[in-house]
Amino acid sequence: MGYKDIYDRVINSIHSGDLKPGERVPSIRNLAQELGVAKKTAESAYDILIGEGYLVSCGPKGTIVNPDLVIGNAYRDNLPSKFENCNLRKIIDLRDTRGLFQPGIPSLDEFPYKKWLLLSGKAARSLTYEDLGHPPVIGYLPLRHAIANYLNISRGINCSADQVFITSGYNSSLRLIFQTIASSNDKVVFEEPGYFSGQKLLERLIQNLCYVPVDSEGINVDFLISHHNDTKFVITTPSHHSPLTVSLTLPRRHQLLNWAQENQAWIIEDDYDGEFHFSRKNIPSLKSLDVFDRVIYVGTFSKTIMPSLHTAYVVIPKVLAPQFHETAEIMETGLSLLPQKILESFISSGAFYKHLKRMRSLYESRRMMVYNAFTEIYGDYFNTPLQNGGMHIVAFLKLDIKDVALCNIWQSHGLQVIPLSMWYAQKRDRRYGLVIGYTNIKSKEEAMTALRLPYKQTIELLQSSCHESFPGKLRDMIAKKKQ
Ligand SMILES: Cc1ncc(COP(=O)(O)O)c(C=O)c1O
Repeated sequence: MGYKDIYDRVINSIHSGDLKPGERVPSIRNLAQELGVAKKTAESAYDILIGEGYLVSCGPKGTIVNPDLVIGNAYRDNLPSKFENCNLRKIIDLRDTRGLFQPGIPSLDEFPYKKWLLLSGKAARSLTYEDLGHPPVIGYLPLRHAIANYLNISRGINCSADQVFITSGYNSSLRLIFQTIASSNDKVVFEEPGYFSGQKLLERLIQNLCYVPVDSEGINVDFLISHHNDTKFVITTPSHHSPLTVSLTLPRRHQLLNWAQENQAWIIEDDYDGEFHFSRKNIPSLKSLDVFDRVIYVGTFSKTIMPSLHTAYVVIPKVLAPQFHETAEIMETGLSLLPQKILESFISSGAFYKHLKRMRSLYESRRMMVYNAFTEIYGDYFNTPLQNGGMHIVAFLKLDIKDVALCNIWQSHGLQVIPLSMWYAQKRDRRYGLVIGYTNIKSKEEAMTALRLPYKQTIELLQSSCHESFPGKLRDMIAKKKQ
């Protein structure tokens, strides 16, 4: 048994509720004896757990679970008490625990519920005898038409309904793609950092998974070509990188498309929040530039409507339609018909376009409000570059300090920010900071009040964490702030 096993066991016990905040954990000596490992092994595990904020050392009184730790959510009791992959628990907790500043959730307070309810009633009343049978596995045809029209108009994608496949989310879209056109040893490239849910799925699905770094211009295509030229699939978020929010520049877009054509590789464009771009120029999708038909486009209604709708889609090159259809018929079950009917009328009635327009301007102003409040309070400790779009703000810690402990503090105040380091698959070149959702903050006062809650603990943590690694540096930063 190594230190990682001990670390996993403690994390699992904390997340399952067997170990509660404030509860004492065994001493290093007792634990080492009990498990038959060297004292150093137990000590290494505790060191990491303390560094990440799960445990707190109380000197001679022993070590306890951090009393400020907020664990769990309404669903926790239904989860198995142990996952082999302990990181998965953190991801589930972050996804399912509601709180202020949670990234990735649209402004639910501004959703046009009345309109939706009206259309729901109409859709329910319009159900015919035939509609009560099995719905089409690849999606309700009028909805596929409506999505194709929307993509033509709004995202510049020249496609028709027979290229649009409805799925229950991003993960099912990826599964459908790989099950249809990938061979078992095909190399797949994912962005580093990248969307952690996708990363988890790919780790399970793909044998030959590699990572390509993202910089201020998006995915580094030179790196891709020099290190992974034999790649068959590249999954990328060109509109706003997840999580850094940078947009893939035009020269890189062309470089990537040309590379894919030369190497007969596929690009999977994840356009999860492409609608929310705030500069004058609406950013076109990568697919709209794809003259070679090497891009498979993946979209979702989780950001534009609501996550609980669980409706997403894949747009595939026409020639692949029969293959995709066959896989879907064998592997998929399809979505219920009624929500698809409601969604279709929401789009076709024009309500969807109106909603998007309102959200774009609402997000622009809410983003500035949160940005201003955050930089006013924490500007000395974080670099917070604002990009041209996206549904969250990334605040990079000026000193590379563990962000997990920091997020634990913020979460204990009901602020559901996510540590930036969680988006990294590899240890190398990891950056630290906070990923802050702004979409559900209604005023600057609300943002200021909430952001002040963890202030004292944040500064204390920054001071104690950087004391050894960066002596004097934080002190200098604070002194500068006081001047
Ligand atoms: C990068 C990224 N891609 C895709 C999605 C969409 O996922 P889904 O359609 O499963 O909600 C999300 C949602 O958070 C995301 O962050």
